[in-house]
Amino acid sequence: MRSDCTTQRLNGSMPRDIARAVEILRAGGLVAFPTETVYGLGADAANGQAVARIFAAKGRPVDHPLIVHIASASALRAWARDIPEAAMQLAARFWPGPLTLILKRAPGVAGAASGGLDTIGLRVPGHPVAQALLQAFGGGIAAPSANRFGRISPTCADHVLSELGGCIEAVLDGGKCAVGLESTILDLSRGRPQVLRPGAVTAGMLAEVIGPLDDGLSSRPPRAPGSLAAHYAPATPLHLVESPFLESETARLAATGAVIVLARRKPMSDAGGQWMLLPEEAAAYGRDLYARLREADAQGAAHILVESPPAGPDWVAVHDRLRRAVAGSGGINRSGS
Ligand code: TXA
Ligand code: MG
Repeated sequence: MRSDCTTQRLNGSMPRDIARAVEILRAGGLVAFPTETVYGLGADAANGQAVARIFAAKGRPVDHPLIVHIASASALRAWARDIPEAAMQLAARFWPGPLTLILKRAPGVAGAASGGLDTIGLRVPGHPVAQALLQAFGGGIAAPSANRFGRISPTCADHVLSELGGCIEAVLDGGKCAVGLESTILDLSRGRPQVLRPGAVTAGMLAEVIGPLDDGLSSRPPRAPGSLAAHYAPATPLHLVESPFLESETARLAATGAVIVLARRKPMSDAGGQWMLLPEEAAAYGRDLYARLREADAQGAAHILVESPPAGPDWVAVHDRLRRAVAGSGGINRSGS
């Protein structure tokens, strides 16, 4: 890995900068780029050495598979085999968009991007900069989220630079990500379709198109780092607290050190702590969550308290990421979720 390179900030809305990003990818370099979910750390998926650099830059174990991004569903057959009808139906409904499909890997596709598995994760992102890049590049772009392994995914170019600046050739700036949480991952490679990671495309939306899913989330061993308990973590211990207990917990912890509270409401009493407001509605909350977690983390507080969000299908992905952030940061889950 060239860990001493200068990272160029490219402008995603300039055709000349897209062309520069393509040149870097063709030469085996790394380019972070925006998608509607989070920023990805991209390399030419057909170049094993370039893909290996992704793992080195992130500090990610090499057996953890990456998602290959393609320009449109018509490229599916180059990457996957035995593609079920369900995949075509979902592609027609949700691509471009925040949905990754796990399919059987086509013969001849190098295993580097998929961690040596016989399956492959594929996604057509909808962000106009990702689309422009994929179309100009022509091939598949392997890209995990552009953060160091185990840390919070980046939702703007500055987040990428703060984690990977100096380790990658370029970041294409395309502003803030509209979804803010990683894509839904659906495994269509074996048995009944199963959600491996919840996201903006909910299980209900998928079932509406292809019928019942396997809902036994724990019935199979975790096969994806996204399904490890301790992913997406801030460095500050993060605790999840039911709303009625926020003030009392804040007061209790404030006795031992600085406390930051991330809540969808203002404090009802002078509970202490520094309160940061998150949106009330699920999509907006998901969009802002990682940026707020980063800000909270950067304050150097002793604890971050997060008000447990509501239940319901729109909140499943948020609950999933918060649970992992609690586990990864060494915090405590005081909520029922
Ligand atoms: O929204 C997203 O999905 C973002 C953007 C950049 O597309 N990408 C992302 O990548 O979140 P990453 O590497 O941070 O997470 C990809 C997840 C991992 O949990 C990985 O294990 C899983 O996808 N995955 C990829 N290929 C797989 C496969 N063949 N079988 C099972 N899981 C797979
Ligand atoms: Mg990731």
